[in-house]
Amino acid sequence: LYEDRLDLEALVRAIPNYPKPGILFRDITTLIEHPQGLRVTIERMAEAVREHSFTHVAGIEARGFIFGTGVAMALGLGFVPVRKKGKLPGQTIGQNYALEYGVDTIEIHDDVLDASHNVLLVDDLVATGGTAIAAVNLIRRTGATIDKASFVIDLPDIGGAEKLRDNGVDVHAVLT
Ligand code: PRP
Ligand code: HPA
Repeated sequence: LYEDRLDLEALVRAIPNYPKPGILFRDITTLIEHPQGLRVTIERMAEAVREHSFTHVAGIEARGFIFGTGVAMALGLGFVPVRKKGKLPGQTIGQNYALEYGVDTIEIHDDVLDASHNVLLVDDLVATGGTAIAAVNLIRRTGATIDKASFVIDLPDIGGAEKLRDNGVDVHAVLT
């Protein structure tokens, strides 16, 4: 099948010196703009976790929304948006995480998850793992189980996936 042979890695563009000098930015816009790239990526993400029984997919703003909604649809699950501070209209709980300079906060609605739930975390890319670990800690505070995360891209030299595994989260990535 053409789609089994589709080279997704070739569809990710690397842009040097974005957002700052010395960074080689992995740009997934070229992957999702390809007529089959978005669907095949999502199918591979969903296939890798299909034997598990999740109740929700949580995706991290902004690029995690693109892949997370697709994975949720493929698995027949609802989607929980993990948003940057101040964007959700209802009561929220938040989690701070360190950026290179300063801190940021992610939030979820406080009435969506509880101890009966098992959540799959989805994002486009794991680098330091700071964002994903903050999402895991936030979701765990609700009592929900979260021990699997799925990414389009893992940058293993930066070590985020290893940190997630140290925190009890099994990591799958389509591309390394
Ligand atoms: C990027 C990416 C991940 C995170 C990965 O998002 O989409 O969410 O950084 O980096 P980390 O593993 O070092 O935490 P960004 O913060 O650029 O937000 P955006 O999706 O809104 O552009
Ligand atoms: N690409 C996209 N997002 C990122 C990257 C990257 O290389 N590094 C950290 N977040």
